[in-house]
Amino acid sequence: MTTYITTPIYYVNAQPHLGHAYTTIVADTYSRFKRLCGEKVRFQTGTDEHGDKIVKAAEEQQVQPREYVDRISNLFRNTWPLLQIEPDHFIRTTDTEHIAVVQSILQKVHDSGDIYFDEYTGLYCRGCERYLTEKELVDGNCPDHQKPPEEIAEQNYFFRMSRYQQSLIDHIKSNPDFITPERYRNEVLSFLSEPLEDLCISRPKSRLTWGIELPFDDKFVTYVWFDALINYLTGIGYPDGPEFTAYWSVAEHLIAKDILKPHAIYWPTMLMAMGVPLYKKLHVHGYWNVDDTKMSKSIGNVVRPKELVMHYGVDTIRYFTLREMSFGLDSSFSSEAIVSRQNADLANDLGNLFSRTTAMVRKYRQAKVPKAGESTEGDRQLQAAARAMLRDYRQQMADFHFHRGLQTVWEFVGVANKYIVENEPWALAKDSSQAARLDTVLYNSLECLRLLTLVLQPVMPGAAAKMAAGLGLATGDERISSLAKGGVWNLLTPGSELQTIDNLFPRLDDNKKEKDAGAAGPKKEEKDAAPVIAGAGAGADLLDFASFQQLDLRVAEIVAAEPIKKSKKLLKLTVKAPEERTIVAGIAEFYQAEQLIGKQVIIVANLKPAKLMGVHSQGMVLAAKSDEGGQERLVLSSLSDRVVPGSKVA
Ligand code: MSP
Repeated sequence: MTTYITTPIYYVNAQPHLGHAYTTIVADTYSRFKRLCGEKVRFQTGTDEHGDKIVKAAEEQQVQPREYVDRISNLFRNTWPLLQIEPDHFIRTTDTEHIAVVQSILQKVHDSGDIYFDEYTGLYCRGCERYLTEKELVDGNCPDHQKPPEEIAEQNYFFRMSRYQQSLIDHIKSNPDFITPERYRNEVLSFLSEPLEDLCISRPKSRLTWGIELPFDDKFVTYVWFDALINYLTGIGYPDGPEFTAYWSVAEHLIAKDILKPHAIYWPTMLMAMGVPLYKKLHVHGYWNVDDTKMSKSIGNVVRPKELVMHYGVDTIRYFTLREMSFGLDSSFSSEAIVSRQNADLANDLGNLFSRTTAMVRKYRQAKVPKAGESTEGDRQLQAAARAMLRDYRQQMADFHFHRGLQTVWEFVGVANKYIVENEPWALAKDSSQAARLDTVLYNSLECLRLLTLVLQPVMPGAAAKMAAGLGLATGDERISSLAKGGVWNLLTPGSELQTIDNLFPRLDDNKKEKDAGAAGPKKEEKDAAPVIAGAGAGADLLDFASFQQLDLRVAEIVAAEPIKKSKKLLKLTVKAPEERTIVAGIAEFYQAEQLIGKQVIIVANLKPAKLMGVHSQGMVLAAKSDEGGQERLVLSSLSDRVVPGSKVA
């Protein structure tokens, strides 16, 4: 099996920020995950260097475009190692191979009659570098740049995109996974329900020279999107390189919602015109906002990856971004949220599990892995939980549900911590007749750590390497680097020795850091540019914002409901939020199952799952308890208007 995963190639008119970092972290994690599954992987990222925007940015810096693009492209290239992102190929649209391929494709499509010359008058947005339709404008302005487009009349070359509209609709309809999550597939289909216009793919040199010259008319350069999208082919040696043959049929593109249209409409129709099979999948994620505000240079809230890594460490940033954003939905970045994830998930749950287990093995067994004896029912349950975690993790990661994959892993961390508490190794250690039982409990706990090292490797390669070292395993050991070989119980070798490592995840005190910028805080000059957003300032017995933010409140749409046998109070609800899940709600005395279908309610989505009357409940529906003259009534939460299921409530 092979995987080819790409990120967008980023414009070099801006420096790398959190948004670029997120997409590239996701692609890196996915490629590491696929390698863990034993696949051959190619991961490509790069920079998009032609067009108006770049020329303008170079002018502002008073340098030639060539010098400018080299500088910013290098900034991107050098940022990725800081985040332990390891692409196999970094492509630039100014690479000579890329220019040659773009020109050969233009010639081919021109020869086949799908590129024609015409005069066009349209509304051009310089920010978007494209013509906008009247319909796209909001109050006469470009919705992305909040400026009116200019009316421009010029002769240009056009790509006959309209010719492929129906074939594209058919392809999307017959391949449900072509564009995911579903909301973006629906958005594209809805856009395609209107007639598609042809695409202007040239710019006259009188207006722009920084671009790839059209091979059939030297008075024009290529429109930046027609040039940029082709990077996905040139990076793997199109048309006849061995890598093109090996990887194109499995190409998966990863983007954010901002560039859905070029990827879901321009690109597949271009491929159709070239006679190249379509890419396999387009994965679309939402936008990172900062404290619920759009990230922007003018607001001054742009979050820089380098500073994030300096403040919080690379593992924390990778974990936080993947855990915090539900893939496909927007997410809000805040330093409180990072600190809370670091302290709760990393330092408390995982870090403690690691340190308490290894400390006990050191204390009671001279740092040697003990040999497990007979399993009790509790041990078997732990092993079953590990198997379930591995299965679920594998599925969720393969489906781009990284936040859910990590949720599953952390539920298992909880199970492992509970196993220790319930088995009380410290008490067993006091009773020499329990030595064999202590061996088993310690062995099982170490096995949990090994499996966690395995599954966390794609997400936090640095922390996983540290954990591996602590367990006395070499980085490339298959027991922690292959899901097939390592994803089974009982692989640690009794007698092997643990190594001492530093604290995996120190606790962060964000308020303190804000106040005194002391040893743990940012240095003065770093602080000015710090991505740290001031804390909410909590009173002693009030909930602070970070704690509130731990609640994942969402709108859920009830799609099915049924009574639970033998229970007067409980109803089993199937809700969309946006994924489907089951929630057991104690509302049967107040609502009939049938009347609930289609209702939108508010749920707590990140409540620990529980089994109620044998039904697995994943979350809680919020309802008001009303006391009406001694008569209790439950009234379900609702919204004043319908929204997209899964919308966050904050
Ligand atoms: N050059 C084009 C892409 C050409 S691909 C053939 C471009 N570049 S860009 O620099 O603007 O990058 C856009 C991408 O950056 C988004 O699709 C996303 O991957 C990432 N992000 C930029 N801002 C973002 C957020 N605020 N949040 C999440 N990701 C965002 O468009």
